[in-house]
Amino acid sequence: MKILVIHGPNLNLLGLREPEVYGRYSLEEINKDIREEAERLGLEVEIVQYNGEKEIIEKLHSAINQFQGIIINPGAYTHYSIAIRDAIAAVRLPTIEVHLSNIYSREEFRHHSVTAPVCLGGIYGFGVASYLLALRALKMVLEER
Ligand code: DQA
Repeated sequence: MKILVIHGPNLNLLGLREPEVYGRYSLEEINKDIREEAERLGLEVEIVQYNGEKEIIEKLHSAINQFQGIIINPGAYTHYSIAIRDAIAAVRLPTIEVHLSNIYSREEFRHHSVTAPVCLGGIYGFGVASYLLALRALKMVLEER
């Protein structure tokens, strides 16, 4: 089973960026944990990070017939990108939305996700564990299909 993990904008700065909110782990360190968990679960993963909406949309399109599931942290696009929402809906692969932080305990503009309704489910607030739990959830869902 091949899973695509997409990190959205500004996540390349993890470790430096608001560590009190996002923790001190760099994206590299998070990716290492994701790869290790995927290996334990017997999943293949490709991990990408894009700051641009266009690149995220193009990568989602290319996932058709290539991946069995998607884990996406759309970053700030979560809150307003109808284009990314439409791409997730178009691709029709089981998709889990993740966030490092608990978006519902933060500023009000983060309380709404336009992408969540087209995802299978979401996991937020657990730091790197949000991604690891999403891998487990996707594996369970895919095995049941
Ligand atoms: C985030 C939450 C978003 O509101 C924010 O814009 C991010 C990171 C998270 O992982 O907690 O860039 O997606």
